[in-house]
Amino acid sequence: MTLREGADPVKGLMGKTAFITGGASGIGYGMAQAFARAGMNIMIADIEQAALDKAVEALNKSANVQVSGVRCDVSLRDSIFEAAQTAFEQFGKVHVVCNNAGIGAGGKMDQATVADWDWVVGVNQMAIVYAVQAFLPHIKEHDEGGHFVTTASMAGMIAAPMVGGPYTATKFAAVGISEVLREELAGTNISASVLCPGFVNTNIGNAQRNRPDRFGGAPDPSKMTAQEKAGQEMVNNFLKGGLDPRIVGELVLEAVKNDWPYIFTDPNMRGAVEKRFAAIMKGFDQAANSEALKAVKA
Ligand SMILES: NC(=O)c1ccc[n+]([C@@H]2O[C@H](COP(=O)([O-])OP(=O)(O)OC[C@H]3O[C@@H](n4cnc5c(N)ncnc54)[C@H](O)[C@@H]3O)[C@@H](O)[C@H]2O)c1
Repeated sequence: MTLREGADPVKGLMGKTAFITGGASGIGYGMAQAFARAGMNIMIADIEQAALDKAVEALNKSANVQVSGVRCDVSLRDSIFEAAQTAFEQFGKVHVVCNNAGIGAGGKMDQATVADWDWVVGVNQMAIVYAVQAFLPHIKEHDEGGHFVTTASMAGMIAAPMVGGPYTATKFAAVGISEVLREELAGTNISASVLCPGFVNTNIGNAQRNRPDRFGGAPDPSKMTAQEKAGQEMVNNFLKGGLDPRIVGELVLEAVKNDWPYIFTDPNMRGAVEKRFAAIMKGFDQAANSEALKAVKA
């Protein structure tokens, strides 16, 4: 299924099944459209029932594949395992797992609450761990090959104060999890890629709509401070100017076929990553010349 096993990638994907979290909207929906066009069956797992029903209906109309949906809160391990079980019952086997559901919350480090952190860590980070636990044994067992696509962000490559500490921390974690997974699976017929989008025109600016009560619930917009409103408006304006999520879906399909470790949507952001790595290298230079480390070097 991946190039690692030398199979024709397109043939490899046709008739296989993709499980996509957060597939009722935005980037996940773009992936579902692209994978369906490539002949894959799709199971969408999403917390938002109305959007889920709409997405499944639209995909079933437009593609000659089986598309199904399951309501799931990815921040709950049991909910992911139940959704996985539903996918196994409906499709028999799952091959591509897209850990894509994500939310943004929490402002500056001294403002983000513990509830903000718990919600963002639950959805953006622990959900990835739960899905690997739910699907990796299954994919190993059917032995037809598989691929994990983890949606991180450019905020997983460079510090992104604009989107806040919790978001940035969990996206760095998402990159790390995907890199470890790929290393651990090297030499097998299962692989892993991490998607690091720049701005994409989606509904993520309105992510609070999906905030479960145990993390404080959806906030009352009338109680937002002027500063919070201005911040949200700025993010929404960047998102509006972002890439069409359908293009991101096609890009992910291309990346899975060709087994890319990193999937970037915005080549212009290369410089920001180079700048970060240059700062890291400078840290090594400082260590090489440090007074405190002289004793170790001798
Ligand atoms: N849009 C961007 O500019 C951008 C940039 C970088 C990374 N990303 C990442 O892309 C991913 C997809 O986001 P998007 O931009 O398409 O936003 P979106 O809001 O359009 O889609 C996110 C989907 O996730 C679902 N979701 C939210 N919480 C959930 C939960 N607890 N359980 C299950 N489903 C849940 C939502 O209902 C929605 O369908 C996220 O991981 C996000 O961090 C987006």
